[in-house]
Amino acid sequence: MAVLVIGEAPTAAIEAVGLRIRPFRPGADEPLPATLTGIDALILSPTATPAALPLVGPALAAEVPVLALGEGARLLAEAAGSGGTGCGATDPLLGGAAAPHGFRVGASAWGLPVPDEADHGVLRRFAELVAGRAETTATRTFFTPRAAAWEERFAYQTPAYEAAVARMRLRPGQRALDLGCGSGRALPALRALVGAAGTVIGVDLTHAMLTAAAREGRGGAAAGLLLADCARLPLPAAAVHGIFAAGLLDHLPHPDAALREWARVTAPGGELLLFHPSGRAERAARHGRAVSPDDPLAEPNLRPALEAAGWHLATYEDAATHFLARAQR
Ligand SMILES: C[S@@+](CC[C@H](N)C(=O)[O-])C[C@H]1O[C@@H](n2cnc3c(N)ncnc32)[C@H](O)[C@@H]1O
Repeated sequence: MAVLVIGEAPTAAIEAVGLRIRPFRPGADEPLPATLTGIDALILSPTATPAALPLVGPALAAEVPVLALGEGARLLAEAAGSGGTGCGATDPLLGGAAAPHGFRVGASAWGLPVPDEADHGVLRRFAELVAGRAETTATRTFFTPRAAAWEERFAYQTPAYEAAVARMRLRPGQRALDLGCGSGRALPALRALVGAAGTVIGVDLTHAMLTAAAREGRGGAAAGLLLADCARLPLPAAAVHGIFAAGLLDHLPHPDAALREWARVTAPGGELLLFHPSGRAERAARHGRAVSPDDPLAEPNLRPALEAAGWHLATYEDAATHFLARAQR
């Protein structure tokens, strides 16, 4: 786990809990990293300076774990625009009385104005939290800075999304999910299929993406917007009749587990539509690489993965203009 440490910090104690330090010393020649890519957490030490602020706001927006000590805690409060919330005895990191001066900002940043309160227990729990969230943090640090411009950048593809959703056999009154919904481009088309009596929920792990969807008027009465991991859906078994997922499966660290989870929440006879507005070869070429035989969307990989998870692949199209796979539960 790579933790960007801003300023002077107790290196041995941090490494002892399994965190790999990437140092940034304000005033030294090296520049502050431009993005949070590859960074699993941030420690703002007592010698951190305002030079760190350009990364603290984005870290809070992407819910990157932050531990801020002494002056670093003051900078955290400044970046958050508030003093945070005092931590009660139930705080998972600070353990209540062990850090009576501690405060929390949002769900993932902690400030300890008295640095000595960051004892071994706090550091160990912070390291556990960082490790447990590493995959989520990588997704959020990638998509959060892209969220605000997502809709404008890709609006031209919306007709392709509408055409793809129209291939789903959803009926009025049924329940549909758009997993990894991003700015919610497929949500209006899903609503058109299930009608006012149906249910549409867009699920995304990146808060900023759901904010973009809400800004586009795709929340509220149009669709529910749910911040959740699509591999651990807070839904009962057989809750929905259809799942749409565009540009998602091959971004996931464990696609097989995700297919099983999607099968769990889908009623028998329901369907899954995997979509991308360009074919696999075109996408690979755009990123300057060859199509990988390990691609989870390659038919020889996708078909058995679907079957093992409880799906039957009914349609597979990998054309120059789009990728579409439709499977039945
Ligand atoms: C390539 S974007 C596609 C967005 C949208 N489906 C579209 O086509 O415009 C992938 C989206 O999946 C979300 N995502 C990635 N991993 C996720 C997960 N485990 N659970 C839920 N959403 C996830 C990202 O936050 C991002 O919004």
